[in-house]
Amino acid sequence: MSYPGDLIRDIQELARFGITQWDLTTGEVAWSDEQFRIHGWEPGAVTPGLEVLLQRVEPADVGRVRQGFERARRGHTASAIEYRIVRSDGALCTLQARTRVLVDERGAPYHMLTTTTDITEHEETAARIVLTDRMASVGTLAAGVAHEINNPLAFISAHLELITEELGEPLPGELGLMLGETRHGVERIRNIVRGLMAFARTDDDQHTPLDVERVLELAILMASNEIRHRARLVRSYNPLPTVMANQATLGQAFLNLLVNAAEAIPEGQTEHHQIEISTRADDAGWAIIEIRDTGRGIAREIQGRLFDPFFTTKPVGQGTGLGLSICHGIVRSIGGEVGFTSAPGQGAVFRVALPPAVAAPRAAQPSAPAALTPLPGRARTKVLIVDDEVVFATALRRMLSRDNHLITIVHDGKDALTRIAAGERFDAIVCDLMMPGMSGMELHAQLLAQVPEQAARMIFLTGGAFSASAKQFLADLPTPWFDKPCDLETLRTVTMRIALTPKIP
Ligand SMILES: Nc1ncnc2c1ncn2[C@@H]1O[C@H](COP(=O)(O)OP(=O)(O)OP(=O)(O)O)[C@@H](O)[C@H]1O
Ligand SMILES: [Mg+2]
Repeated sequence: MSYPGDLIRDIQELARFGITQWDLTTGEVAWSDEQFRIHGWEPGAVTPGLEVLLQRVEPADVGRVRQGFERARRGHTASAIEYRIVRSDGALCTLQARTRVLVDERGAPYHMLTTTTDITEHEETAARIVLTDRMASVGTLAAGVAHEINNPLAFISAHLELITEELGEPLPGELGLMLGETRHGVERIRNIVRGLMAFARTDDDQHTPLDVERVLELAILMASNEIRHRARLVRSYNPLPTVMANQATLGQAFLNLLVNAAEAIPEGQTEHHQIEISTRADDAGWAIIEIRDTGRGIAREIQGRLFDPFFTTKPVGQGTGLGLSICHGIVRSIGGEVGFTSAPGQGAVFRVALPPAVAAPRAAQPSAPAALTPLPGRARTKVLIVDDEVVFATALRRMLSRDNHLITIVHDGKDALTRIAAGERFDAIVCDLMMPGMSGMELHAQLLAQVPEQAARMIFLTGGAFSASAKQFLADLPTPWFDKPCDLETLRTVTMRIALTPKIP
Protein backbone atom coordinates (compact mmCIF):
# COMPACT_ATOMS: atom_id res chain seq x y z
CA MET A 1 0.00 0.00 0.00
CA SER A 2 1.35 3.43 -0.82
CA TYR A 3 0.61 6.51 1.25
CA PRO A 4 -0.26 9.90 -0.15
CA GLY A 5 2.32 12.60 0.68
CA ASP A 6 -0.18 14.53 2.83
CA LEU A 7 -0.73 11.56 5.10
CA ILE A 8 3.01 11.07 5.59
CA ARG A 9 3.34 14.76 6.41
CA ASP A 10 0.49 14.48 8.93
CA ILE A 11 2.08 11.45 10.55
CA GLN A 12 5.40 13.27 10.87
CA GLU A 13 3.70 16.23 12.47
CA LEU A 14 1.70 14.05 14.84
CA ALA A 15 4.76 12.12 15.95
CA ARG A 16 6.97 15.24 16.01
CA PHE A 17 9.23 13.33 13.74
CA GLY A 18 11.55 15.07 11.21
CA ILE A 19 13.42 13.61 8.25
CA THR A 20 16.70 14.73 6.70
CA GLN A 21 18.07 13.49 3.38
CA TRP A 22 21.74 14.24 2.83
CA ASP A 23 23.25 13.52 -0.58
CA LEU A 24 26.86 12.89 0.34
CA THR A 25 28.13 13.14 -3.20
CA THR A 26 26.67 16.60 -3.97
CA GLY A 27 26.39 17.81 -0.35
CA GLU A 28 22.73 18.71 -0.92
CA VAL A 29 20.52 18.51 2.17
CA ALA A 30 16.70 18.32 2.26
CA TRP A 31 14.52 18.60 5.38
CA SER A 32 10.91 17.57 5.80
CA ASP A 33 8.53 20.26 7.11
CA GLU A 34 8.56 18.72 10.57
CA GLN A 35 12.36 18.76 10.67
CA PHE A 36 12.14 22.55 10.44
CA ARG A 37 9.36 22.78 13.03
CA ILE A 38 10.91 20.70 15.76
CA HIS A 39 13.96 22.93 15.57
CA GLY A 40 11.75 25.99 15.90
CA TRP A 41 11.61 27.21 12.27
CA GLU A 42 8.73 27.52 9.85
CA PRO A 43 9.20 25.10 6.90
CA GLY A 44 11.58 26.62 4.35
CA ALA A 45 12.61 29.50 6.65
CA VAL A 46 16.32 28.58 6.47
CA THR A 47 18.53 26.65 4.08
CA PRO A 48 18.87 23.14 5.50
CA GLY A 49 22.31 22.00 6.59
CA LEU A 50 24.32 20.87 9.59
CA GLU A 51 25.78 24.31 10.36
CA VAL A 52 22.33 25.90 10.36
CA LEU A 53 21.02 23.19 12.65
CA LEU A 54 23.93 23.71 15.04
CA GLN A 55 22.85 27.32 15.55
CA ARG A 56 19.85 26.06 17.45
CA VAL A 57 21.76 23.53 19.55
CA GLU A 58 22.59 24.26 23.20
CA PRO A 59 26.28 25.41 23.12
CA ALA A 60 27.42 22.64 25.45
CA ASP A 61 26.14 20.00 22.99
CA VAL A 62 27.46 21.49 19.72
CA GLY A 63 30.83 19.69 19.66
CA ARG A 64 29.28 16.32 20.37
CA VAL A 65 26.56 16.73 17.74
CA ARG A 66 29.01 17.82 15.04
CA GLN A 67 31.27 14.87 15.84
CA GLY A 68 28.33 12.44 15.82
CA PHE A 69 27.14 13.48 12.37
CA GLU A 70 30.71 13.54 11.01
CA ARG A 71 31.28 9.98 12.17
CA ALA A 72 27.95 8.87 10.72
CA ARG A 73 28.76 10.54 7.40
CA ARG A 74 32.00 8.63 7.13
CA GLY A 75 30.00 5.44 7.38
CA HIS A 76 30.48 4.61 11.07
CA THR A 77 27.40 3.01 12.49
CA ALA A 78 26.19 5.76 14.75
CA SER A 79 24.17 5.28 17.88
CA ALA A 80 21.43 7.82 18.43
CA ILE A 81 22.64 11.39 18.80
CA GLU A 82 20.80 13.28 21.52
CA TYR A 83 20.97 17.04 21.82
CA ARG A 84 19.19 19.93 23.45
CA ILE A 85 17.90 22.93 21.59
CA VAL A 86 16.66 26.19 23.00
CA ARG A 87 13.14 26.96 21.86
CA SER A 88 12.12 30.52 21.09
CA ASP A 89 10.32 30.69 24.49
CA GLY A 90 13.61 29.92 26.23
CA ALA A 91 12.66 26.39 27.26
CA LEU A 92 14.98 23.49 26.56
CA CYS A 93 13.86 20.64 24.33
CA THR A 94 15.67 17.33 23.87
CA LEU A 95 15.85 15.82 20.38
CA GLN A 96 17.12 12.46 19.30
CA ALA A 97 18.57 11.88 15.82
CA ARG A 98 19.11 8.45 14.26
CA THR A 99 21.11 8.08 11.09
CA ARG A 100 21.56 5.46 8.39
CA VAL A 101 24.22 5.76 5.68
CA LEU A 102 23.75 4.07 2.32
CA VAL A 103 26.94 2.74 0.70
CA ASP A 104 27.61 1.87 -2.93
CA GLU A 105 28.97 -1.47 -4.18
CA ARG A 106 32.52 -0.37 -3.33
CA GLY A 107 31.48 0.45 0.21
CA ALA A 108 31.65 4.22 -0.21
CA PRO A 109 28.91 6.24 1.59
CA TYR A 110 26.71 8.22 -0.82
CA HIS A 111 23.52 9.03 1.07
CA MET A 112 22.58 9.68 4.67
CA LEU A 113 19.07 9.42 6.05
CA THR A 114 18.33 10.96 9.46
CA THR A 115 15.17 10.83 11.52
CA THR A 116 14.78 13.28 14.38
CA THR A 117 12.29 12.89 17.25
CA ASP A 118 11.36 15.20 20.10
CA ILE A 119 11.97 13.17 23.27
CA THR A 120 11.52 15.98 25.79
CA GLU A 121 8.44 14.45 27.40
CA HIS A 122 10.04 11.03 27.57
CA GLU A 123 13.13 12.54 29.21
CA GLU A 124 11.02 14.45 31.69
CA THR A 125 9.11 11.32 32.66
CA ALA A 126 12.34 9.39 33.15
CA ALA A 127 13.76 12.23 35.25
CA ARG A 128 10.61 12.30 37.36
CA ILE A 129 10.88 8.59 38.07
CA VAL A 130 14.52 8.95 39.12
CA LEU A 131 13.60 11.93 41.29
CA THR A 132 10.74 10.11 42.99
CA ASP A 133 13.02 7.16 43.75
CA ARG A 134 15.73 9.36 45.13
CA MET A 135 13.23 11.26 47.25
CA ALA A 136 11.99 8.04 48.77
CA SER A 137 15.45 6.98 49.91
CA VAL A 138 16.37 10.44 51.18
CA GLY A 139 13.02 10.49 52.97
CA THR A 140 13.98 7.41 54.96
CA LEU A 141 17.30 8.98 55.85
CA ALA A 142 15.64 12.25 56.82
CA ALA A 143 13.20 10.47 59.12
CA GLY A 144 16.07 8.73 60.89
CA VAL A 145 18.08 11.93 61.34
CA ALA A 146 15.00 13.80 62.58
CA HIS A 147 14.37 11.09 65.12
CA GLU A 148 17.94 11.20 66.41
CA ILE A 149 17.91 14.99 66.76
CA ASN A 150 14.45 15.07 68.26
CA ASN A 151 15.22 13.18 71.42
CA PRO A 152 17.95 15.48 72.73
CA LEU A 153 16.04 18.47 71.35
CA ALA A 154 13.02 17.48 73.39
CA PHE A 155 14.86 17.70 76.69
CA ILE A 156 16.80 20.79 75.69
CA SER A 157 13.47 22.57 75.01
CA ALA A 158 11.98 21.25 78.23
CA HIS A 159 14.98 22.33 80.30
CA LEU A 160 15.02 25.72 78.69
CA GLU A 161 11.41 26.25 79.62
CA LEU A 162 12.03 25.12 83.17
CA ILE A 163 15.17 27.24 83.56
CA THR A 164 13.37 30.32 82.26
CA GLU A 165 10.51 29.76 84.65
CA GLU A 166 12.81 29.05 87.56
CA LEU A 167 14.81 32.23 87.04
CA GLY A 168 11.79 34.40 86.39
CA GLU A 169 11.65 37.04 83.66
CA PRO A 170 12.90 39.52 82.63
CA LEU A 171 16.46 38.38 83.24
CA PRO A 172 19.15 40.99 83.68
CA GLY A 173 21.87 41.77 81.10
CA GLU A 174 23.98 39.06 79.49
CA LEU A 175 22.02 36.21 81.01
CA GLY A 176 18.74 37.34 79.48
CA LEU A 177 20.48 37.87 76.16
CA MET A 178 22.05 34.41 76.21
CA LEU A 179 18.83 32.73 77.13
CA GLY A 180 17.02 34.57 74.34
CA GLU A 181 19.62 33.52 71.79
CA THR A 182 19.56 29.94 73.00
CA ARG A 183 15.79 29.87 72.61
CA HIS A 184 16.14 31.29 69.13
CA GLY A 185 18.72 28.62 68.28
CA VAL A 186 16.48 25.84 69.57
CA GLU A 187 13.64 27.24 67.48
CA ARG A 188 15.85 27.10 64.39
CA ILE A 189 16.79 23.48 65.04
CA ARG A 190 13.14 22.71 65.62
CA ASN A 191 12.31 24.22 62.22
CA ILE A 192 14.93 22.13 60.47
CA VAL A 193 13.69 18.98 62.18
CA ARG A 194 10.12 19.88 61.30
CA GLY A 195 11.21 20.33 57.69
CA LEU A 196 12.91 16.94 57.70
CA MET A 197 9.84 15.31 59.17
CA ALA A 198 7.50 17.02 56.74
CA PHE A 199 9.76 15.80 53.98
CA ALA A 200 9.81 12.23 55.24
CA ARG A 201 6.18 12.03 56.11
CA THR A 202 4.08 13.52 53.36
CA ASP A 203 1.81 10.62 52.58
CA ASP A 204 0.25 9.61 55.84
CA ASP A 205 -1.74 12.72 56.65
CA GLN A 206 -5.50 12.72 56.73
CA HIS A 207 -6.80 13.87 53.37
CA THR A 208 -10.03 15.83 53.25
CA PRO A 209 -11.82 17.65 50.42
CA LEU A 210 -10.25 21.09 50.27
CA ASP A 211 -10.98 24.46 48.78
CA VAL A 212 -7.59 25.29 47.24
CA GLU A 213 -8.26 29.01 47.27
CA ARG A 214 -8.62 28.96 51.05
CA VAL A 215 -5.40 27.00 51.43
CA LEU A 216 -3.65 29.53 49.17
CA GLU A 217 -4.97 32.41 51.25
CA LEU A 218 -3.59 30.81 54.42
CA ALA A 219 -0.20 30.35 52.75
CA ILE A 220 -0.28 33.97 51.55
CA LEU A 221 -1.01 35.12 55.07
CA MET A 222 1.99 33.23 56.37
CA ALA A 223 4.27 34.47 53.57
CA SER A 224 3.05 38.06 53.69
CA ASN A 225 6.00 39.19 55.79
CA GLU A 226 8.40 37.98 53.10
CA ILE A 227 6.37 39.34 50.21
CA ARG A 228 5.38 42.76 51.54
CA HIS A 229 8.76 44.46 51.10
CA ARG A 230 9.51 42.99 47.75
CA ALA A 231 6.54 42.72 45.45
CA ARG A 232 2.90 43.45 44.83
CA LEU A 233 0.75 40.38 45.13
CA VAL A 234 -1.72 39.79 42.33
CA ARG A 235 -4.46 37.19 42.51
CA SER A 236 -5.98 35.88 39.29
CA TYR A 237 -8.36 33.30 40.65
CA ASN A 238 -10.66 31.22 38.48
CA PRO A 239 -13.00 28.50 39.69
CA LEU A 240 -11.20 25.35 40.82
CA PRO A 241 -12.30 21.82 41.60
CA THR A 242 -12.09 20.62 45.17
CA VAL A 243 -8.97 18.52 45.82
CA MET A 244 -8.23 15.79 48.37
CA ALA A 245 -5.32 16.78 50.57
CA ASN A 246 -4.26 17.70 54.05
CA GLN A 247 -4.74 21.41 54.58
CA ALA A 248 -1.58 21.94 56.60
CA THR A 249 0.73 20.05 54.25
CA LEU A 250 -0.74 21.51 51.06
CA GLY A 251 -0.47 24.94 52.66
CA GLN A 252 3.18 24.17 53.39
CA ALA A 253 3.77 23.30 49.72
CA PHE A 254 2.31 26.64 48.56
CA LEU A 255 4.10 28.50 51.32
CA ASN A 256 7.47 27.14 50.19
CA LEU A 257 6.79 28.29 46.62
CA LEU A 258 5.64 31.73 47.74
CA VAL A 259 8.65 32.24 49.98
CA ASN A 260 10.98 31.17 47.18
CA ALA A 261 9.28 33.59 44.79
CA ALA A 262 9.69 36.40 47.31
CA GLU A 263 13.30 35.49 48.00
CA ALA A 264 14.10 35.69 44.27
CA ILE A 265 13.13 39.37 44.33
CA PRO A 266 15.34 42.05 45.88
CA GLU A 267 13.92 44.05 48.77
CA GLY A 268 12.64 47.57 48.40
CA GLN A 269 11.50 47.71 44.78
CA THR A 270 7.88 46.83 45.35
CA GLU A 271 6.66 49.01 42.50
CA HIS A 272 8.78 47.09 39.95
CA HIS A 273 8.01 43.57 41.05
CA GLN A 274 5.04 41.33 41.37
CA ILE A 275 4.11 37.84 42.41
CA GLU A 276 1.06 36.58 40.63
CA ILE A 277 -0.96 33.65 41.84
CA SER A 278 -3.31 32.31 39.23
CA THR A 279 -5.70 29.40 39.42
CA ARG A 280 -7.81 27.61 36.84
CA ALA A 281 -9.15 24.20 35.99
CA ASP A 282 -7.58 22.55 32.95
CA ASP A 283 -9.37 20.49 30.30
CA ALA A 284 -8.97 17.30 32.31
CA GLY A 285 -10.62 18.95 35.31
CA TRP A 286 -7.39 19.26 37.33
CA ALA A 287 -6.69 22.27 39.52
CA ILE A 288 -3.82 24.33 38.12
CA ILE A 289 -2.09 26.76 40.44
CA GLU A 290 0.66 28.98 39.09
CA ILE A 291 2.98 31.18 41.10
CA ARG A 292 4.75 33.61 38.82
CA ASP A 293 7.44 35.99 40.02
CA THR A 294 9.47 38.72 38.38
CA GLY A 295 12.62 37.77 40.30
CA ARG A 296 16.10 36.80 39.16
CA GLY A 297 15.01 33.62 37.37
CA ILE A 298 16.78 30.29 37.48
CA ALA A 299 20.07 29.70 35.68
CA ARG A 300 19.89 26.86 33.20
CA GLU A 301 22.82 25.00 34.79
CA ILE A 302 20.94 24.48 38.05
CA GLN A 303 17.47 23.81 36.65
CA GLY A 304 17.95 20.03 36.78
CA ARG A 305 18.86 20.09 40.49
CA LEU A 306 16.25 22.43 41.92
CA PHE A 307 14.08 19.73 43.48
CA ASP A 308 17.07 17.87 44.93
CA PRO A 309 16.91 17.70 48.70
CA PHE A 310 19.44 20.10 50.23
CA PHE A 311 20.09 21.89 46.94
CA THR A 312 20.30 25.59 47.68
CA THR A 313 21.99 28.65 46.23
CA LYS A 314 21.76 30.44 49.56
CA PRO A 315 24.90 31.07 51.61
CA VAL A 316 25.86 28.34 54.07
CA GLY A 317 23.59 28.32 57.10
CA GLN A 318 20.78 30.32 55.52
CA GLY A 319 18.67 27.77 53.70
CA THR A 320 18.03 24.09 54.15
CA GLY A 321 17.45 23.49 50.45
CA LEU A 322 14.50 21.35 51.48
CA GLY A 323 11.75 23.80 50.48
CA LEU A 324 11.21 22.51 46.97
CA SER A 325 11.79 18.86 47.79
CA ILE A 326 9.16 19.08 50.52
CA CYS A 327 6.81 20.78 48.09
CA HIS A 328 7.50 18.06 45.52
CA GLY A 329 6.90 15.31 48.07
CA ILE A 330 3.61 16.81 49.21
CA VAL A 331 2.26 17.40 45.73
CA ARG A 332 3.27 13.92 44.56
CA SER A 333 1.70 12.30 47.61
CA ILE A 334 -1.70 13.53 46.49
CA GLY A 335 -1.18 12.44 42.91
CA GLY A 336 -0.24 15.88 41.60
CA GLU A 337 2.66 17.34 39.68
CA VAL A 338 4.89 20.34 40.21
CA GLY A 339 7.19 21.89 37.64
CA PHE A 340 8.59 25.23 36.59
CA THR A 341 9.76 27.30 33.67
CA SER A 342 12.22 30.11 33.91
CA ALA A 343 14.60 32.10 31.82
CA PRO A 344 17.45 33.78 33.70
CA GLY A 345 16.60 37.37 34.52
CA GLN A 346 12.97 36.94 33.60
CA GLY A 347 11.49 35.48 36.73
CA ALA A 348 10.08 32.02 37.22
CA VAL A 349 6.73 30.29 37.06
CA PHE A 350 6.05 27.34 39.34
CA ARG A 351 3.06 25.31 38.31
CA VAL A 352 1.22 22.87 40.57
CA ALA A 353 -1.36 20.53 39.05
CA LEU A 354 -3.67 18.68 41.44
CA PRO A 355 -6.20 15.99 40.57
CA PRO A 356 -9.81 16.79 41.46
CA ALA A 357 -11.33 15.07 44.46
CA VAL A 358 -13.35 12.18 43.16
CA ALA A 359 -16.98 12.69 43.97
CA ALA A 360 -16.91 10.17 46.78
CA PRO A 361 -19.12 10.55 49.82
CA ARG A 362 -17.39 12.75 52.32
CA ALA A 363 -15.39 10.62 54.72
CA ALA A 364 -16.32 10.96 58.35
CA GLN A 365 -13.79 13.23 59.98
CA PRO A 366 -12.47 12.41 63.40
CA SER A 367 -13.97 14.94 65.72
CA ALA A 368 -11.60 17.62 66.91
CA PRO A 369 -10.19 16.94 70.35
CA ALA A 370 -12.08 18.70 73.06
CA ALA A 371 -10.48 21.87 74.34
CA LEU A 372 -7.83 20.98 76.85
CA THR A 373 -8.33 22.85 80.06
CA PRO A 374 -6.68 21.67 83.23
CA LEU A 375 -9.14 20.06 85.52
CA PRO A 376 -9.47 21.38 89.01
CA GLY A 377 -8.39 19.35 91.96
CA ARG A 378 -4.93 18.18 92.92
CA ALA A 379 -5.29 14.55 93.86
CA ARG A 380 -2.07 12.58 94.38
CA THR A 381 -2.43 10.84 91.08
CA LYS A 382 0.22 8.34 90.02
CA VAL A 383 2.00 8.85 86.73
CA LEU A 384 4.43 6.44 85.11
CA ILE A 385 6.99 7.75 82.63
CA VAL A 386 8.46 5.15 80.27
CA ASP A 387 11.32 6.56 78.19
CA ASP A 388 14.78 5.22 77.42
CA GLU A 389 16.09 8.77 77.05
CA VAL A 390 17.14 9.40 80.67
CA VAL A 391 17.55 13.16 80.45
CA PHE A 392 14.21 13.64 78.70
CA ALA A 393 12.45 11.44 81.23
CA THR A 394 13.89 13.58 84.02
CA ALA A 395 12.82 16.82 82.34
CA LEU A 396 9.37 15.35 81.92
CA ARG A 397 9.24 14.43 85.60
CA ARG A 398 10.14 17.98 86.61
CA MET A 399 7.41 19.34 84.38
CA LEU A 400 4.69 16.89 85.44
CA SER A 401 5.53 16.98 89.14
CA ARG A 402 4.23 20.56 89.25
CA ASP A 403 0.78 19.01 89.17
CA ASN A 404 1.51 17.13 92.33
CA HIS A 405 1.50 13.70 90.66
CA LEU A 406 3.46 10.90 92.24
CA ILE A 407 5.91 10.08 89.49
CA THR A 408 7.74 6.89 88.68
CA ILE A 409 10.28 6.63 85.87
CA VAL A 410 11.32 3.45 84.08
CA HIS A 411 13.52 3.24 80.98
CA ASP A 412 12.19 0.12 79.36
CA GLY A 413 8.75 -1.24 78.46
CA LYS A 414 9.59 -4.46 80.24
CA ASP A 415 10.11 -2.74 83.62
CA ALA A 416 6.75 -1.02 83.24
CA LEU A 417 5.05 -4.31 82.48
CA THR A 418 6.70 -6.06 85.44
CA ARG A 419 5.42 -3.40 87.86
CA ILE A 420 1.89 -3.43 86.50
CA ALA A 421 1.78 -7.22 86.33
CA ALA A 422 2.82 -7.23 89.99
CA GLY A 423 -0.27 -5.19 90.83
CA GLU A 424 0.94 -1.58 90.76
CA ARG A 425 -1.56 0.79 89.10
CA PHE A 426 -1.05 4.20 87.47
CA ASP A 427 -3.49 6.97 86.65
CA ALA A 428 -1.57 7.94 83.52
CA ILE A 429 1.32 6.37 81.62
CA VAL A 430 3.44 8.65 79.45
CA CYS A 431 5.33 6.34 77.15
CA ASP A 432 7.91 6.66 74.37
CA LEU A 433 6.79 4.82 71.24
CA MET A 434 10.16 3.54 70.07
CA MET A 435 12.57 2.10 72.62
CA PRO A 436 15.23 -0.54 72.43
CA GLY A 437 14.01 -3.62 74.26
CA MET A 438 10.26 -3.63 74.68
CA SER A 439 8.76 -0.80 72.64
CA GLY A 440 5.76 1.31 73.64
CA MET A 441 3.65 -0.57 71.12
CA GLU A 442 4.54 -3.95 72.61
CA LEU A 443 3.87 -2.68 76.11
CA HIS A 444 0.47 -1.44 74.94
CA ALA A 445 -0.34 -4.83 73.39
CA GLN A 446 0.69 -6.66 76.55
CA LEU A 447 -1.34 -4.36 78.78
CA LEU A 448 -4.32 -4.62 76.50
CA ALA A 449 -4.23 -8.39 76.97
CA GLN A 450 -3.47 -8.39 80.72
CA VAL A 451 -4.74 -5.11 82.24
CA PRO A 452 -6.76 -3.24 79.55
CA GLU A 453 -7.66 -0.45 81.98
CA GLN A 454 -3.97 0.49 82.18
CA ALA A 455 -3.53 0.35 78.39
CA ALA A 456 -6.30 2.94 78.07
CA ARG A 457 -4.27 5.31 80.27
CA MET A 458 -1.26 5.41 77.93
CA ILE A 459 -0.19 8.65 76.26
CA PHE A 460 2.43 8.16 73.56
CA LEU A 461 5.41 10.28 72.58
CA THR A 462 7.07 9.75 69.23
CA GLY A 463 10.45 10.83 67.98
CA GLY A 464 9.35 11.15 64.38
CA ALA A 465 10.54 7.89 62.83
CA PHE A 466 7.67 5.71 61.79
CA SER A 467 7.53 2.14 60.66
CA ALA A 468 4.39 1.14 58.78
CA SER A 469 3.12 -0.72 61.82
CA ALA A 470 3.78 2.26 64.09
CA LYS A 471 1.81 4.48 61.72
CA GLN A 472 -1.12 2.11 61.82
CA PHE A 473 -0.85 1.80 65.58
CA LEU A 474 -1.03 5.57 66.10
CA ALA A 475 -3.88 5.90 63.63
CA ASP A 476 -5.93 3.36 65.59
CA LEU A 477 -5.04 4.75 69.01
CA PRO A 478 -8.01 6.15 70.95
CA THR A 479 -5.74 8.10 73.33
CA PRO A 480 -3.66 11.16 72.36
CA TRP A 481 -0.08 11.01 71.15
CA PHE A 482 2.55 13.69 70.74
CA ASP A 483 5.51 14.33 68.47
CA LYS A 484 8.72 15.18 70.31
CA PRO A 485 9.62 17.92 70.97
CA CYS A 486 6.07 18.48 72.07
CA ASP A 487 4.24 21.34 73.62
CA LEU A 488 4.83 20.46 77.25
CA GLU A 489 1.90 22.49 78.53
CA THR A 490 -0.52 20.51 76.37
CA LEU A 491 1.10 17.25 77.41
CA ARG A 492 0.77 18.33 81.02
CA THR A 493 -2.94 19.07 80.55
CA VAL A 494 -3.64 15.82 78.75
CA THR A 495 -1.78 13.83 81.39
CA MET A 496 -3.83 15.52 84.07
CA ARG A 497 -7.06 14.82 82.25
CA ILE A 498 -6.31 11.12 81.82
CA ALA A 499 -5.00 10.83 85.38
CA LEU A 500 -8.24 12.27 86.72
CA THR A 501 -10.50 10.07 84.59
CA PRO A 502 -12.21 7.87 87.19
CA LYS A 503 -12.43 4.55 85.42
CA ILE A 504 -11.41 4.01 81.83
CA PRO A 505 -13.39 1.16 80.26
N1 LIG B 1 11.09 31.39 42.30
C1 LIG B 1 12.41 31.16 42.25
N2 LIG B 1 13.22 31.98 41.55
C2 LIG B 1 14.56 31.78 41.50
N3 LIG B 1 15.18 30.73 42.09
C3 LIG B 1 14.43 29.86 42.78
C4 LIG B 1 13.01 30.02 42.90
N4 LIG B 1 12.53 28.99 43.64
C5 LIG B 1 13.60 28.23 43.97
N5 LIG B 1 14.74 28.75 43.47
C6 LIG B 1 16.10 28.18 43.59
O1 LIG B 1 15.98 26.86 44.07
C7 LIG B 1 16.82 26.66 45.21
C8 LIG B 1 16.20 25.59 46.09
O2 LIG B 1 14.99 26.04 46.67
P1 LIG B 1 14.47 25.40 48.02
O3 LIG B 1 13.21 26.08 48.39
O4 LIG B 1 14.45 23.93 47.87
O5 LIG B 1 15.61 25.75 49.06
P2 LIG B 1 16.06 27.19 49.59
O6 LIG B 1 15.00 28.20 49.29
O7 LIG B 1 17.42 27.46 49.05
O8 LIG B 1 16.16 26.93 51.15
P3 LIG B 1 14.94 27.01 52.21
O9 LIG B 1 13.70 26.68 51.45
O10 LIG B 1 15.29 26.04 53.26
O11 LIG B 1 14.93 28.41 52.72
C9 LIG B 1 16.94 28.03 45.83
O12 LIG B 1 18.13 28.17 46.59
C10 LIG B 1 16.95 28.95 44.60
O13 LIG B 1 18.23 29.05 44.04
MG1 LIG C 1 12.95 27.77 49.81
